[in-house]
Amino acid sequence: MSTAMINHRGPEFAALSARVTERLKYFFQTQSDVLIFTAAGTGALEVAVVNTISPGDKVLAVSIGVFGDRFANIAKRYGAKVTKLDFEWGKAADPDAIRRALAADPAIKAVLVTHNETSTGVTNDLAAISAIVREADKLLLVDAVSSLSAIDLPVDAWGCDVVATGSQKGWMVPPGLAMVSFSERAWQAYRACTTPRFYFDAGEAKRYQEKGQTPWTPALSLYFALDVALDLMMKEGRENIFARHARLAEKTRQGIEALGLTLFADRTHASNTVTAVKAPAGIPAKQISRAMREEEGVVIAAGQGRLENEIFRFGHLGYVNDSDIDEALAALARVCQRLGVPTLASRVN
Ligand SMILES: Cc1ncc(COP(=O)(O)O)c(C=O)c1O
Repeated sequence: MSTAMINHRGPEFAALSARVTERLKYFFQTQSDVLIFTAAGTGALEVAVVNTISPGDKVLAVSIGVFGDRFANIAKRYGAKVTKLDFEWGKAADPDAIRRALAADPAIKAVLVTHNETSTGVTNDLAAISAIVREADKLLLVDAVSSLSAIDLPVDAWGCDVVATGSQKGWMVPPGLAMVSFSERAWQAYRACTTPRFYFDAGEAKRYQEKGQTPWTPALSLYFALDVALDLMMKEGRENIFARHARLAEKTRQGIEALGLTLFADRTHASNTVTAVKAPAGIPAKQISRAMREEEGVVIAAGQGRLENEIFRFGHLGYVNDSDIDEALAALARVCQRLGVPTLASRVN
């Protein structure tokens, strides 16, 4: 990332852009377009909405947590008529309920869904959901910010129309790049879409990508980082990366349970990139995350939204290995012992 800046309208950037885009398509498992915007993950979600949904369009927004709510809010803010389909936090969306909601309102044009809900540590059954959305012939917009590259998401095979992710998660790159795929159906929707947009115009991004550029100045340092991250990822192999995340997630879940703590997410849909843990009775989650940071030098997250003090979360995605998990679990054991978590005290040496 400390490489000297290059001309972003010159041949070096064109080569870098082509190299990065080609490999992103491999990880998105798509033959369609993958566009890169300089933005946070939320920008990727906004790209999905402003390029395919017009004011007044009916949208079904499936939410299982904070990020599902955010996706719905973006669509609402741009004038879509949003039908919200909420599920209990900690559980996955029920595909049959989505089928029923689509049948109940044939005017619905698009479905918004979070693949991996980072706020609760739950991964939706996107294979089943996408099959239902395809059958109903609706547009499918997917928030894959905390899943893509770490959890299998074959974009073309599942018929996902717009899939949005962010550089700071499984891609192992600092925050600031938003990567978004567009299917042919998504481009059809783009052509009909009347929502005003400028910076996030996907058509402009595609037009410039074809000549090896971006419409606006890109975050070059992040492209340099993504280029190297993709080298590492190609070397490890896509399926091996999925398998490593699955293995480390299972190790985390087992380690948490071995400490006598309770997992928040329904185990059948527990995420392979983030594990949410119920705070022990009488101990606010924030107290645990503070002690982990201040006493053990391990940064974990407390809950978000109404779960702020109910759960704490371990992120295990991207550049993560067995010893990271071992050390974090050992630190958690010591913190819980010091805080006098009763189920645990007897088990820690
Ligand atoms: C599932 C999901 N969607 C969206 C976002 C928003 O990304 P950002 O914070 O980069 O805007 C996040 C961030 O954690 C996320 O986990």
